[in-house]
Amino acid sequence: MAKRVFSGVQPSGSLTIGNYFGALRNFVRLQDEAECFFCVVNLHALTVPQDPQELYQRTLDVARLFVACGIDPNKATIFVQSHVPAHSEMSWLLECTTYVGELRRMTQYKDKAAKREVVTSGLFTYPVLMAADILLYQTDEVPVGEDQKQHLELARDIAIRVNNRFDEQIFKVPEPYIPPKAAGGRIMNLQNPLEKMSKSAENPKGIITLLDPPDVIRQKIRSAVTDSGREIYYDEENKPAISNLMVIYSLCSGKSLDEIRDEYAGVGYGQFKKDLAELVVETLRPIQARFEELSRPGVIEEVLAQGKKKAEPIAQETLKRFQRKLGLLPLCDS
Ligand code: TYM
Repeated sequence: MAKRVFSGVQPSGSLTIGNYFGALRNFVRLQDEAECFFCVVNLHALTVPQDPQELYQRTLDVARLFVACGIDPNKATIFVQSHVPAHSEMSWLLECTTYVGELRRMTQYKDKAAKREVVTSGLFTYPVLMAADILLYQTDEVPVGEDQKQHLELARDIAIRVNNRFDEQIFKVPEPYIPPKAAGGRIMNLQNPLEKMSKSAENPKGIITLLDPPDVIRQKIRSAVTDSGREIYYDEENKPAISNLMVIYSLCSGKSLDEIRDEYAGVGYGQFKKDLAELVVETLRPIQARFEELSRPGVIEEVLAQGKKKAEPIAQETLKRFQRKLGLLPLCDS
């Protein structure tokens, strides 16, 4: 049997090149070798305040971007988290096997909570819903960026705990699929290279979204911060800004970091940034063109309806099995 892959993306902002290089590009690669499930995790987005109309529109847009980036709905299953209620149900069951101490250790929770005046309990239990997403599908592999590593470890710990308790494999223990930083695992903010490029960033200048028009991309790259000196070489510690731009250059061009360093020896930042901007524009051009084609009403909705049909029976099977194990009374049909 082909291995099974699951991953999710929140419709909490416009997807960035960080999402693309850290995750979506690998989704496209994996669809040819695995049975893939790619989910627009709209319930996760609710952990922080969302404008309902924007959430609605972004849910459709993320699904469109999945396809525009090259995910083929005939090969991979694309669906919306809230269309399969088993995700919420499983999340509750797993919350009852997860410790508060484990959730308190989640660095993403600590970072996000520190920035807010009020923190919902959903933000706190968010990683359990993510574990539910993954474990429902008996997932072998989860392609994500580096920022999701700790959440994935929790999903593994929960799976192992449940399996040990019942002394049988209720859940497959999933493996992470995370690219190294120099291969897109963590693309940094253009205005602050010590911070991850995030779709919910306050300042749009630091992020490049997949739908930014060419001139906006050029402008953002032109105004990206650089490091002292004018040499171009990869040194994450001492030249975090240029290193990040080099990684983006490398991912768009297919050239290695060493090749880029040699090509720009003695050239300076200005020309490098100009060339980088054109590379990013050309990388996003076909994605943007396909996105437009997918905007006809009904097209993506149909993909999502088919996706739900394929995802739900698998999720239900795992949920039912776990419910029985826990002693939840099944409904008597007669
Ligand atoms: P989200 O929506 O924040 O991001 C979607 C994917 O993009 C990756 N990513 C990045 N990769 C490299 N550089 C960056 N700057 C960057 N920013 C984001 C993320 O690692 C992710 O792979 N909790 C998840 C969504 C989720 C999920 C799941 C993922 C819910 N359930 C089950 C996998 C499996 C999240 O917030 O991703």
